[in-house]
Parts: sequence; structure tokens; C-alpha cells
Amino acid sequence: MKESDKLLLSNKAWARERVEVDPDFFRRLVNQQRPHFLWIGCSDSRVPANEITGTAPGEVFVQRNIANLVVPTDLNLLSVIEYAIEVLEVEHIIVCGHYGCGGIKAAMTPRSYGALNKWLRNIKDVYRLHREEIDAAPLERKVDLLTELNVREQVANLTKTSLVQRAWRRGRRPWLHGWVYSLADGILHELVSIAPGTPVDPIYQFEFDE
Ligand code: CO
Repeated sequence: MKESDKLLLSNKAWARERVEVDPDFFRRLVNQQRPHFLWIGCSDSRVPANEITGTAPGEVFVQRNIANLVVPTDLNLLSVIEYAIEVLEVEHIIVCGHYGCGGIKAAMTPRSYGALNKWLRNIKDVYRLHREEIDAAPLERKVDLLTELNVREQVANLTKTSLVQRAWRRGRRPWLHGWVYSLADGILHELVSIAPGTPVDPIYQFEFDE
């Protein structure tokens, strides 16, 4: 049996189990998704959004990329954010990083990774912004510290988007959260939480006509 065939097989078992536990499970999901959360996480296979938060299909709208970045020219992410805010009307956007992140580690080395260099550049920029703090930290703390600072910067990047600013002007959502996940014990820690309407650094603040 091919390794991928095992996935198809266990999928059948999973679907059967869901219906045994909850006969209406798929019928309900077919009709609509109303997740309250948008998750922007790392692509790392050890940080599956639903599994670590104990949430079921239908509860979390998910976008993952290497090192959970919010890059203002990423059309994929911007489309996801716009859909989450405008159509799904999510209440919370969570940026979740994790300790032991390969993307963060790679960005701290001089090694060239081809196309990935351009992506990792965004992390190197976070390092440069916080160079003093990171350089002053003990060696074993540096990667974790950059991981945390990266999450904070990506949450800040959300506040710089017209999508979030416009939503905040209209009402009391979405909350923005920055979390970090520990591979060692499976625990999530909140680093930052920003309430809707929190003032944005004026240089990033847009004026809207309507
Ligand atoms: Co990672």
C-alpha cells in the first residue's frame, strides 16, 4: 500500500466515526461555515491549528505559511483576511508562532535558500528592528526571542492593513492576538492581545472617505 493510500483509508474511518458520534455532523457543515477565528500559523506539520486548540471542522478559518508572516504584498493572505473579516465576520484573528521554528532559525543564518530567501528577508527585518534586544539575550534565548518578536511584529502588521482598520472603524471586531506554541509541552502562550479600535501608529493610520 502506498503511504498516501493510508491517508485515504484513515479518512474513511474518520468520516465513519464522526457520523457515529454525531449523525448530523456533515449535514450541518455542508450548509454553512461560521468560524469565529482566523488562524495565521506556521506551515510546520507539528502545529495543526484545529488539533492543538481542540476545535472541530467549521470553527477555525486557517492560513499557514513559513514562520506565520503577515506580508503586505501577499495576495493569498490578504484575500483570506478580507474574506474572514467581510464575509465570515470572524471575531478574532490569531497569529501563532512556535518555538523551534525552522523558518526563524534559517533567517538567523547566512545560508542561501533560493526563493525562500525573499520570504525569510521579512524575518531578518524583524531581527534588525530588535537587534539590540536580541544581541543582548543569552545564546539559548535568541531564537525563542526572535520567534516571539516576530509574532508581535506580524500582529502589528495586521493593524497596518486597511482591512483591519476599516473593520475597526465599523465596529467591535476583530480582536488581534499573538500566540506562541511550545512543541515541548503542547501549550499555547498569549504574547499580545489588541482590542478593536486600539490606536494605530499614526504613520500607518489611513483616513477613510465613508
Ligand atoms: Co515554523
